[in-house]
Amino acid sequence: QKSNTKISMAVIRRLPKYRRYLEELLDKGINRISSRELSKIIGFTASQIRQDLNNFGGFGQQGYGYNVAALYEEIGKILGLDNVYNTIIIGAGNLGQAIANYTNFEKAGFIPKAMFDINPRLIGLKIRDIEIMDADNIEEYIKENNIDIGIICTDKEHAQDVADKLIKSNIKGIWNFAPTDLNVPEHIMLENVHLSESLYTLSFLLKHNREQEDV
Ligand code: NAI
Repeated sequence: QKSNTKISMAVIRRLPKYRRYLEELLDKGINRISSRELSKIIGFTASQIRQDLNNFGGFGQQGYGYNVAALYEEIGKILGLDNVYNTIIIGAGNLGQAIANYTNFEKAGFIPKAMFDINPRLIGLKIRDIEIMDADNIEEYIKENNIDIGIICTDKEHAQDVADKLIKSNIKGIWNFAPTDLNVPEHIMLENVHLSESLYTLSFLLKHNREQEDV
């Protein structure tokens, strides 16, 4: 949807959080909520919430609040969670296996089709029903199986090589866990995850005994 490309990345990064809280409200059977009530549970200010959600058109109504189910669904659509994505995991070590074992990504539409590694002791094994294949076959596999997302879980020394293979095979997106900055062309969507950044932020908060502000 073109109109959504104007939404700032700062807002986009808050959307998964809105969606998570809305899901909890739905689970509790709560069908409508004001920006003030939402503010109390999420921690953003009510005006921030109104401003964020105004980006998507008339969800809030004066004196009524937000329709929880409709907002939940709309945010899911904006995030593309109404799609199904084929994924592969490259690097079948501790982290790769943990991700493969985590079934909630699959429930959200991110289907793990295969894993790849260079270690002959891992090749041929399965994590749940996901086979670990020889990393030499990545490019062929991506092309033949319509893979959308490559999840990089190799050591950082190999991450760029792996990324280059993914790019050559026309992958659409890369979810990178290796602690390195990857070079990718503009048409490839890249998202990095660094748990250590979050952990070190916690360390800062402990050291300075400071509460977190809204993000
Ligand atoms: P690991 O050593 O258990 O697994 C790495 C696997 O990648 C090994 O099985 C290795 O054979 C494989 N591999 C290496 N080169 C490859 C290649 N070219 N193609 C395919 N497979 C290849 O390491 P672990 O603990 O699973 O960590 C994996 C990566 O994730 C590391 O870079 C680590 O720093 C990073 N990491 C990142 C976190 C984050 O929050 N971003 C959290 C934990 C780990």
